[in-house]
Amino acid sequence: MKITLFGTQPYDKESFERIRDAYGFDICYHRSHLNANNVALARGSDAVCIFVNDTADAETIRQLADLNVKLIALRCAGFNNVDLNAAARYGIPVVRVPAYSPHAVAEHAVALMLALNRKVHRAYWRTRDGNFSLHGLLGFDMYGKTAGIVGTGKIARELIRILKGFGMTVVAYDPYPDRRYAAEAGITYVSLDELYSRADIISLHCPLTDRTRYMIGDVAISHMKPGVILINTGRGQLIHTEALIDGLKEKKIGAAGLDVYEEEADYFYEDTSDRIMDDDVLARLLSFNNVIVTSHQGFFTREALDNIAHTTLQNISDFSERRELVNEVRAEPENAVVK
Ligand code: NAI
Repeated sequence: MKITLFGTQPYDKESFERIRDAYGFDICYHRSHLNANNVALARGSDAVCIFVNDTADAETIRQLADLNVKLIALRCAGFNNVDLNAAARYGIPVVRVPAYSPHAVAEHAVALMLALNRKVHRAYWRTRDGNFSLHGLLGFDMYGKTAGIVGTGKIARELIRILKGFGMTVVAYDPYPDRRYAAEAGITYVSLDELYSRADIISLHCPLTDRTRYMIGDVAISHMKPGVILINTGRGQLIHTEALIDGLKEKKIGAAGLDVYEEEADYFYEDTSDRIMDDDVLARLLSFNNVIVTSHQGFFTREALDNIAHTTLQNISDFSERRELVNEVRAEPENAVVK
């Protein structure tokens, strides 16, 4: 079995190479992200392995089918970057890693909340410069506040467990509410509008679909509590970034912690410090002292990298040896993405 791994970073190669021999696969690593212009790199491969910023749109998938690639193995949970309808049309199954460490992402969301609430990022620079003033660093007790969680899947449930530990009230929205879980966890499902109007901190943990794209725009922001902290570790396009910038300028949004950004593919995971930033929206975001942008690193723990490598190679092995599609994702009305 030959696999072409796109978007490879040194840490990806390290974690895959550690266990590759156990599977006997031949893996070819490429730095570039898969897109319609570089499909040829996959020539001779049985499977391609891609991550969040690779693009498997209809044209890319058509070319993969021409090369007789038999499987697309996502080494991530989200699959919004794959045209599942096209994959079905060309008969290329898609598998993913549904959960590599919900703890990693949930804990990163908490890191963003706490840093923004207590202004740790600002305090860090101040004290290094001999400025020990507390002016502007006032935060609030998490205890007794209300968190609004959008989506109550694996990551959200880990986050909710932690936030309940702080003594927070949790309200949540999910189109498929799990009432039993809610009763056990001590949370309340509410409508999105009620969540927006009640939450002191809002955290997004739903997939990017046609329904959720730009769900946080002018209208949603207008319903939020003044000073709300907004956290996005889901996908960049859940938030209309220009609306967020307006909300920050009007001080409606108190702070934003963004591990994802709608145009992240051009920047995230790369050192672009030698370049002049040509994305004015990202540049404006980075200019706020109450915004923290991290480079889609929520997943980035040792445990998660090990799980990603194991599950990905196991998915490929199940397919190659038994034609079993463990962890397959298929086009369904609610997750089909229109490109
Ligand atoms: P999951 O599949 O366990 O949970 C997603 C939940 O969202 C489900 O309960 C589902 O019913 C709900 N949902 C579906 N449509 C919704 C809608 N319109 N509004 C509100 N909720 C909706 O997924 P998991 O593992 O918890 O991951 C959540 C998201 O986090 C992924 O889709 C991915 O985009 C993102 N993610 C980010 C990572 C990072 O490094 N920042 C790493 C892994 C995932």
